[in-house]
Amino acid sequence: MTDPSPVPARPLAVVVVGHVDHGKSTLVGRLINDTGMLPEGRLESIRAMCDRRGMPFEWAFLMDAFKAERDQGITIDTTQIWFKTAKRDYVLIDAPGHREFLRNMITGASAADAAVLLIDAQQGVRQQSRHHGYLLHLLGIRQVVVIINKMDAVAFAAERYASIRDTYRDYLGALGIAPAAFIPVVARDGDNLVERSTRMDWYDGPTVTEALDEFSAETPDAALPLRLPLQDVYKFDDRRILAGRVESGRLKVGDRLLFSPSNKTARVASIEAWHVPAPPTEATAGQSIGITLDEQIFVERGEIASHVDNPPIETTVFRARLFWMAPEKLAVGQEVEVRVATRAFKAVVQAIERIVDTETLEESLGESVPRDGIADVVLRARQLVALDEYKRLKRTGRCVILDKGGIAGGGLIRMDGYPDQRRLVTPRSGNLTGVEHRVSAAARAQRNGHRGGVLWFTGLSGSGKSTLAMEVEQRLFQMGYQVYVLDGDNIRGGLNANLGFSPDDRAENIRRVGEVAALFADAGTIAIAAFISPYRADRERARAAGRTTQFHEVFIKADLAVCETRDPKGLYKKARAGQIQEFTGISAPYEEPDHPELTVDTGRAAIAACAEQIVAYVVANFAMKA
Ligand code: ADX
Repeated sequence: MTDPSPVPARPLAVVVVGHVDHGKSTLVGRLINDTGMLPEGRLESIRAMCDRRGMPFEWAFLMDAFKAERDQGITIDTTQIWFKTAKRDYVLIDAPGHREFLRNMITGASAADAAVLLIDAQQGVRQQSRHHGYLLHLLGIRQVVVIINKMDAVAFAAERYASIRDTYRDYLGALGIAPAAFIPVVARDGDNLVERSTRMDWYDGPTVTEALDEFSAETPDAALPLRLPLQDVYKFDDRRILAGRVESGRLKVGDRLLFSPSNKTARVASIEAWHVPAPPTEATAGQSIGITLDEQIFVERGEIASHVDNPPIETTVFRARLFWMAPEKLAVGQEVEVRVATRAFKAVVQAIERIVDTETLEESLGESVPRDGIADVVLRARQLVALDEYKRLKRTGRCVILDKGGIAGGGLIRMDGYPDQRRLVTPRSGNLTGVEHRVSAAARAQRNGHRGGVLWFTGLSGSGKSTLAMEVEQRLFQMGYQVYVLDGDNIRGGLNANLGFSPDDRAENIRRVGEVAALFADAGTIAIAAFISPYRADRERARAAGRTTQFHEVFIKADLAVCETRDPKGLYKKARAGQIQEFTGISAPYEEPDHPELTVDTGRAAIAACAEQIVAYVVANFAMKA
């Protein structure tokens, strides 16, 4: 164990994006010089080198010199260069191309707070300028300045500046990016970088450093919710020391920590450090620490410690905006190894929602992501994993996909359309003691002539769940069965009247109905639950809710197109018109069952035939063999 490392001060990280020919290196070199950050003699030595070789001096040579020096830096693909203004420190992230930049951002090798987009005044807005804007949009970088460079080559014409500004402003605006400034510069001569240009009096906006100074550094990591992903658990004497890096937030001795996804809690007994006179009582973001707990709970590498009232999300399914780097394609159905913070787990690619070609930036649908493709991918883990959304917490909000030990892809995590499963699995109250019934399931079954159980109908709206449920209920009743339908629209009018259609509400809807159906089954009845129940995890929980093992998932199958044509309640029409938000199949996900006990295809067979199929299934599975 080493001392807690000091907390690095956070400078504003700025990425410079733009074509090399548009003067990126010149801009950076000149900016370093004009902010007085150039080590003494450096300029002279480069000038002398140019003289010796008979080359004209260029600011870009400075960058080359920096790069050579920093080759053993943090990442292979990025050079980091520091400068400061009177207001604060900056680190410039310079990636050779947009791919490297994207890869570094997504895998977390570097993280930009703000961006400088560079455009050549002569060339104007090119395809690549659009690419760059789009990348910032993808990554969620909203603090942007646009620099229109080489204004001398267009005779400092205000009209040229205005026309580029207007064109680019429209394009960026459509992506939701509103640049703080469009600045006309001559990077080579330093016009409007740090010093105001005397050659463009018509321009009254800020200089580059003035514009950057207006940006806010993001909330310091220490002010964010606590996340301490466990790196290792060591045994020293009888003590267990949990080691890891505080990725965000702060913790103190005495704090109650929640470990996710095991959901165990304990208090911090000590923060360990060697070679210090007194052990620290507090640790904060950026520090690597070891802690001991007041109770011996079993937690392992990969869990994320947080405070109890501000935990990460727990889920088996999440979406990643993925940048795929491996030569082989990533395909739907493929199993991959994923890492979030310190936890590695297996996940299956459940769906690919859209693919973006990084060359043309065209979006398409498809079953696989090619090398260098960006895609929105839905990943499903076998167990609950703890994670955050990237937009909330960057460090625990991204994932890396590993292949053969290397990084094959990186993704930014989003949960749109998917619920946090944590509150569904954690009982609120303690001190509960279950009571035994004296009437057994067998006795009930004996009297009814059949076992109790659950038929869980899942499918899209309009697939025929309710119609079939009522039909099957009637037939079974007439055959002497104890049977009752729990139907989505009905239950939502009563028991679940307080729930809407957000992911969390749907999950709670299904949790309650799962419990109710289990009670019906326990009472000896056949409960037919007819709910869209779009999430697999919820249906699995409904299956696990009961004490009987008689839970049968019935997939009421019908293509979206078929359901939409039927549109019995006119809801698809409204959803398409934007009048209903989060409508399943249109703007909210539906996860088809993996291994349903029974599938009936209402797109292919008539309702009567489907009902017959289900009734036969019930007779085969529920009837008591006399
Ligand atoms: S579930 O997703 O939570 O399982 P549930 O089966 O209870 O849904 O309710 C679905 C019914 O609610 C649909 O058949 C439809 O009539 C109605 N409904 C209203 N808004 C929505 C929506 N946004 N998405 C899906 N169904 C909706």
